[in-house]
Amino acid sequence: MSRSRSGGTALGRARPLDRQKAHEIQAFGQVIHRTIALSESAARQSVENLNQVLADTATLRDLYKKHHWQVAGPTFYPLHLLFDKHYEEQNELVDTLAERIQSLGGVTLAMAADVAETTIIPRPPRGREEVPVQISRLLHAHEIVLKEARTMARLAAEGGDDGTNDLLVSDVIRTNEKQVWFVSEHLVDVPLVRAD
Ligand SMILES: [Fe+2]
Repeated sequence: MSRSRSGGTALGRARPLDRQKAHEIQAFGQVIHRTIALSESAARQSVENLNQVLADTATLRDLYKKHHWQVAGPTFYPLHLLFDKHYEEQNELVDTLAERIQSLGGVTLAMAADVAETTIIPRPPRGREEVPVQISRLLHAHEIVLKEARTMARLAAEGGDDGTNDLLVSDVIRTNEKQVWFVSEHLVDVPLVRAD
């Protein structure tokens, strides 16, 4: 009978080695050195800042999905679609931010509980709200992200981290500014049928 390296039978080798446990290979907050010609302090600062924008972007993303599901009223259909489009765009940003953090040698936030502990966007109620309230929440969340992203973009440029500066300006800031435009126009009180 053939034997596996561990001494078991050939049949035994087919058993998945599940329920394994070991220490983490990198703790959250630790930044490893990568050969990308960037100072350790600049990488560390960017990782910390990007994790904050990541937590707020993931929260804004989920706020869009909540509103996509819970929206009510005569504008249900266009808002249902718009909220989902913005959800997808924010989801792309989450992935871009997370992969930038790993590229810099950091550890990205990932799980909902960790995101909830980190975000500075106010927690909405579980229940449904009227459209103007939904949109007001979104605009407040966008403004939080835009404010911190602008500050962090400047800090990244000062530290020589042009890649992070570019990501924050070209992706995060521009996407959020455009979404604010699309969403905020729904709070302009213009007549639907008869002009004033
Ligand atoms: Fe859906």
